[in-house]
Amino acid sequence: MCGIVGYVGPRPSVDVVVGGLRKLEYRGYDSAGVAVIGPGGLTISRAKGKLKNLVDRLAEKPLTGRTAIGHTRWATHGRPSDENAHPHSYKGVAVVHNGIIENHMELKAELTGKGHKFASETDTEIFAHLISDAMIKGGDDLSQAVRDTLKQVKGTYAMAVVSEKRPNEIVAAKNASPLVLGYGVGEAFLASDVPAILEHTREVSYLEEGELAHLGPEGIRIENERGETVTRAPHHVEWSSVAAEKDGHKHFMHKEIFEQPRAVADTIRGRISLEQGDVTLDGLELTEAYVKGLSKITIVACGTSWHAGLCGRNMIESLARIQVEVELASEFRYRDPLVDEKTLVLAISQSGETADTLAAVKESKRRGARAVSICNVIGASIPRDCDGTLYTRAGPEIGVASTKAFTTQLAALFLLGVKLGRLRGTLSAEQARPHLEALRHVPAQMEQVLRQEPAVMPVAKRCAKARDVLFLGRNSQHPVALEGALKLKEISYIHAEGYAAGEMKHGPIALIDENLPVVVIATKEPHYEKTLGNMEEVKARGGEVFAVVSEGDNLAASLASVALCVPACPPLLSPLLTILPLQFLSYHVADLRGTDVDQPRNLAKSVTVE
Ligand code: AGP
Repeated sequence: MCGIVGYVGPRPSVDVVVGGLRKLEYRGYDSAGVAVIGPGGLTISRAKGKLKNLVDRLAEKPLTGRTAIGHTRWATHGRPSDENAHPHSYKGVAVVHNGIIENHMELKAELTGKGHKFASETDTEIFAHLISDAMIKGGDDLSQAVRDTLKQVKGTYAMAVVSEKRPNEIVAAKNASPLVLGYGVGEAFLASDVPAILEHTREVSYLEEGELAHLGPEGIRIENERGETVTRAPHHVEWSSVAAEKDGHKHFMHKEIFEQPRAVADTIRGRISLEQGDVTLDGLELTEAYVKGLSKITIVACGTSWHAGLCGRNMIESLARIQVEVELASEFRYRDPLVDEKTLVLAISQSGETADTLAAVKESKRRGARAVSICNVIGASIPRDCDGTLYTRAGPEIGVASTKAFTTQLAALFLLGVKLGRLRGTLSAEQARPHLEALRHVPAQMEQVLRQEPAVMPVAKRCAKARDVLFLGRNSQHPVALEGALKLKEISYIHAEGYAAGEMKHGPIALIDENLPVVVIATKEPHYEKTLGNMEEVKARGGEVFAVVSEGDNLAASLASVALCVPACPPLLSPLLTILPLQFLSYHVADLRGTDVDQPRNLAKSVTVE
């Protein structure tokens, strides 16, 4: 997803901006560029591909100046190329943009009719033309020109603009895509995400929908849609910049897999009272009367967060005995969903910026439902739109393949399940206690599983040569099978399917032969004998089985070429353990195949377009 960085102040602005873009690489991108207002006016450098290409270009032809904006582009309109890379410029105005201008065809036709010539295939270039025209009409007032332009544009955007005529000013605006403002003394920063500016400032605020910000050496001024000044105190970011680094691991994903026991422990911390057999969920104001009046809970999410939602359904239905639906946010928003004031909509999102999930929240609220979220990024768009948020405390997740976000979401969902059970009266304090004790024990059990990383290598070597891999799981382990398959396909580019074990006979069994490795999650849980039966079925057809089994279960282990063990754990919580060997599996397969583990092709960390 595109990344924006801006800086105005006394430091070498290009270095600040390029340094910031480096911290946004995790978002995924295909080209990068920077625009600077220097003594000679506006200069721009852009390059297709990785940031290194831009850095090489800047080394050959350095740009200097006090005001700069930069961008990493994730193509939506027009292929990845030097010409389509941002910033886009016209007559001394340069623009970087994250989002989509829906009426760009009409606007382009209109401008072409007036004699404008375009240098790229992008929708963004329209902005530079419109703003430049508006400046000519409006006496070089950059913010007024931006405001006038935005009135003509339909779509989503986070954007930053500089103009030769206003050498010490950046104007930024936001609608739907995130923008963070960073405060300094005699300087100001702007970025799509906090890590980009954390090295320089910890004082940040978020630009809200429809707002416009002026950044200059004298500080930052925010205006609302009516042009009125908005007073907003910056807040202090606690994350260390080291938390966003690799810390000696080969990849962020590997580091993040190992961070899970800490992340889950942090997510639980201070929220459990064993004495009271209860849970405190800061940020979610759930009263007994409200919860008892609910007819159902609808979970909306995408990708890995959707898989967490499937686990959450099992947890909440079992602990609180209330119906839970789990919807793909991208589908939910376009059907005619049955939600009303008796529905609690729960959005799950690591980034809090996923466009489909955000749209599902808005749609639910429009239909009268209350919407709350489970999110990892404080102050992101989804929590800002929701009536309450339970934050996971995973810390920044940089690898595109989600790992610690998933397990912390599971921990948060389990806490929510217990809370709802207590409020609805389906769990007494006595009954809640063993559940909470089991949850408290999970981080230590995760440590135990992580120590077995080397045991995954033979499976990884086999799967690295496969064309397809099938993952099977039953009940609690069905979402884990889906998640294992998603992890493998997104980073190793091997086709993988996750299936409910009982569904194998309804189709995928036709695929089984000696070329298809089958990974079965066969931990000792209710109906697990049936999963053992599925393993037998695979073997009988010449397939090779790899399994995740409960420690000491020799029977299940005997049915697999390689068995990866996890400690005994209640079924509702066991996905927090069984997913770990599968994360290792996908990681090592990808590493063996030499793919770009942290930034796999075509994927973005935060999908802010639909
Ligand atoms: C996870 O590995 C994926 N990269 C992706 O499916 C992700 O979970 C999805 O895009 C949702 O993101 P969110 O949790 O930030 O909303």
